[in-house]
Amino acid sequence: MNNSTAPDLSKLAAPVTIGGKTVSNRLWLAPMAGLTHSAFRKVLAHYGSCGLMFTEMCSAKAVPTEKPGVSPVFNWHEYELPNLVCQLVGATPEEMVIAAKRVEDEGFFGVDINMGCSARGMIKREAGAALLKTPDMALKIVEAVREAVSIPVFVKYRTGWSTDIGPAVDLAKSFESAGAGCLVFHPRVAPDKRTRPPRIDHIRYIKEAVSIPVFGNGDVTTPKHCRSMLDKTGCDGISIGRMAMARPWLFAEWTAGFTPDENVFQDYVIRLADALEEDFDPIRALKRFRLFMIYFAANFRYGHSLQATFSTARDMDDVRSKAKEHIRPDMELSITPNMNLYSL
Ligand SMILES: Cc1cc2nc3c(=O)[nH]c(=O)nc-3n(C[C@H](O)[C@H](O)[C@H](O)COP(=O)(O)O)c2cc1C
Repeated sequence: MNNSTAPDLSKLAAPVTIGGKTVSNRLWLAPMAGLTHSAFRKVLAHYGSCGLMFTEMCSAKAVPTEKPGVSPVFNWHEYELPNLVCQLVGATPEEMVIAAKRVEDEGFFGVDINMGCSARGMIKREAGAALLKTPDMALKIVEAVREAVSIPVFVKYRTGWSTDIGPAVDLAKSFESAGAGCLVFHPRVAPDKRTRPPRIDHIRYIKEAVSIPVFGNGDVTTPKHCRSMLDKTGCDGISIGRMAMARPWLFAEWTAGFTPDENVFQDYVIRLADALEEDFDPIRALKRFRLFMIYFAANFRYGHSLQATFSTARDMDDVRSKAKEHIRPDMELSITPNMNLYSL
């Protein structure tokens, strides 16, 4: 893993101020349901240099009564709070306000409003990306949350329901006026999960419409993609989703000159198995491991067979012994992820 020809990503190592609070760098972990749980974040913290991490999607309805020791999603380690943002999903200002207050009381760095999820259940509940169809409601939610808490408010959203970028630009301006501290923009239309390529140029329209920080997101898998998104859009930083699951040391590699050793893939799987075992019951730990394996396996040319090997793991002991036997330094890597696996 030679970094000598790596593009200049020094911009990402610079701090950024969001809503009056400083974040140490500009390469962040995107929120992902089922993936960005406390166990994964523990492993990510081990490799280091992720400026800000986002939780899994937490239901605003559930958050007020959630028990962190019991809830699989509204769950964290104390040491993470200074750079952990809680993502909320909800449909009304009332439910979002109560949840956001709890997020602030628990000590999170900030609160993120999900306006990107287009899963059918979410749209039916008029939450997530459905809010992009009702800009007045989207705005009311941001205003109400902003008024209710003093921690930074983030909005993660998409292009909307048509390829016209105009409505997303209007929303960016409204969100800024309503007091959002940062926008994370994923330039795909809502019905398109992650199949077609993102319209990277659309991030520039959002960046140019507002003066608060705008982070770009979508299909960044290599330092070259990262540099290209920065150059093409002028965005203030980058939010990484799936590739963070594949190689969580990329934050340290791209912003702090870390060079992973040849055992890093095996080390990662064993660390994650340990963390899943500590944070979850055995059934949930295994379920989460299987979801993770899709993205991990995408690292390798023959990732499908690796995935099949781990799909029969019975528990975390079995995962660890399979990792020791099957994840070897000489495995053929894909420079960019194996797209058959990765497009999930
Ligand atoms: C399994 C999975 C779950 C996701 N869950 C969420 C979520 O809960 N909230 C959200 O805003 N985006 C979610 N996303 C979208 C990601 O945050 C990100 O926008 C998307 O994966 C594109 O970025 P990437 O190409 O770097 O992965 C999810 C993506 C995946 C693959």
